[in-house]
Amino acid sequence: MIARVTFAAFVAFWASVATLLALSALAPASVADERHDLREIDAEELAEHASLESCWMAIEGKVYDFTDYIPEHPTPPSVMEPWCGREATEGMRTKGYGRDHSPAAWAMMEDYLIGVFVD
Ligand code: HEM
Repeated sequence: MIARVTFAAFVAFWASVATLLALSALAPASVADERHDLREIDAEELAEHASLESCWMAIEGKVYDFTDYIPEHPTPPSVMEPWCGREATEGMRTKGYGRDHSPAAWAMMEDYLIGVFVD
């Protein structure tokens, strides 16, 4: 009887270890899949969104749709507008006068991500 209970506990223990290992193996795979799902956007398509009505920017290899964000940005829209429809890493890194945006500003971009930039 004791041998049976010990055996059952042994099996249950290793079954839970196996479940945990399987879950941890799946987690990074699903993150990678999410990245893989991002659409590829080239310079030609990007350039079709060069206005305040539809403003996309490529920043450090990713493409963002900032149309809805521009009214929230703490400057008049005319400050971001010239960067719409193009590679805008310099705009993000310099704010147009040589000072980088805060880490908080960089973190906000995630919400507007729509694709990866293919040159
Ligand atoms: C790429 C074109 C952009 C330009 C030229 C630009 C320029 C500026 C300027 C002139 C300021 C105000 C002055 C200052 O705080 O030093 C500012 C502040 C700010 N911008 Fe931008 N911006 C751009 C894109 C963005 C984007 C894409 C985001 C976020 C999604 C963003 C978020 C912010 C925030 C949160 C501030 C407040 C200060 C800070 O956190 O750094 N900006 N930006």
